[in-house]
Amino acid sequence: MDLEHLSTDSLERIARAATPGEIEGLRVELLGKSGTVTGLLKTLGQMSPEQRQVEGPRLNGLRQTVAAAIDERKAALEAAALEERLARETLDLTLPAPEMPQGSVHPVSQVMDELAEIFADLGFAVATGPEIEDDWHNFTALNMPESHPARAMHDTFYFPVQNGVETDHEGAQQRRMLLRTHTSPVQVRTMLAAVKANPGGAPVRIIAPGRVYRSDSDATHTPMFHQIEGLVIDRDIHLGHLKWTLETFLKAFFERDDIVLRLRPSYFPFTEPSVEVDVGFALVGGRRVLGGSGDAPGHAWMELLGSGMVNRRVIEMSGLDPDQWQGFAFGVGVDRLAMLKYGMDDLRAFFDGDVRWLKHYGFAFLDQPTLSAGVGARA
Ligand code: PHE
Repeated sequence: MDLEHLSTDSLERIARAATPGEIEGLRVELLGKSGTVTGLLKTLGQMSPEQRQVEGPRLNGLRQTVAAAIDERKAALEAAALEERLARETLDLTLPAPEMPQGSVHPVSQVMDELAEIFADLGFAVATGPEIEDDWHNFTALNMPESHPARAMHDTFYFPVQNGVETDHEGAQQRRMLLRTHTSPVQVRTMLAAVKANPGGAPVRIIAPGRVYRSDSDATHTPMFHQIEGLVIDRDIHLGHLKWTLETFLKAFFERDDIVLRLRPSYFPFTEPSVEVDVGFALVGGRRVLGGSGDAPGHAWMELLGSGMVNRRVIEMSGLDPDQWQGFAFGVGVDRLAMLKYGMDDLRAFFDGDVRWLKHYGFAFLDQPTLSAGVGARA
């Protein structure tokens, strides 16, 4: 077959190719390793230089023409296939969209957000501390020296002592690591940080929400639970400030004006005087509904939280002068607050991770603006 003929014949066949597969077959047949055009190009090697000068451009021209025709035909076939698909496929906008599974905000996160918002309005900042705490911050600095009987009340999870050697806290105190048993060590850490930032001390107004751990487990106790600590340090702070703050916070949290508190003398090593706070409730359909005095007919008192004026020894150990600074502190169970507000009865269900429970008790991101849902969700 002469070159002219081969060229027309190839181009015709390429033009007739109806599928990408056929085009690919032609590419192999003509331009492949042992293809017709490739074979012709190989003959250039045996030609004389004069002959090659004539035949070289002709053969290369043929190869380029064929390659270009193949590419073009291939693109045209692909475009046609796409057109055909677009014409065939239709989009039915009346079909219901597939359901998108959506998570929800855990009641504990929800309550922590609510508390942060309530206390932010009262001028409190949020402080944090480590869950793996040392002996000194969790006990000693809170006026519970070693072998203090109150330590035994906490059912502490201790870490094993490393190599039999206990590290020192600031060269003096024994430092055994443990899972913090309450959020009160954040009191100490916050005061220490305040003194560091401002020698001589500074007013402090914080809440510290977080996880705490005790070796305890039944329907109302889990080895891990949540507390929120409150701490106010300033000049001339007294019990009246504590009572007003707790009343204001509980009224805002439970969204009721008739919350009545009873302050009862109590004992905590880190507060003096210490005050246990009870709240009045009525039993309605087997559920505790907060409100009214616990002494009113059909009402009773329920213990809600521990608090008191920060013990001057704690203020001292935190680096502040107790003759100049004093304040109050309180600690309350977040899970307990959630159970009371949203009517759940088994604490263990909080941490089982059962999606059905979360679906029932969880909070939607968009229904209620929360800090957990992120600032973006508020928009
Ligand atoms: N830390 C105490 C507890 O866990 C609660 C508390 C905090 C009491 C602050 C007084 C002041 O039981």
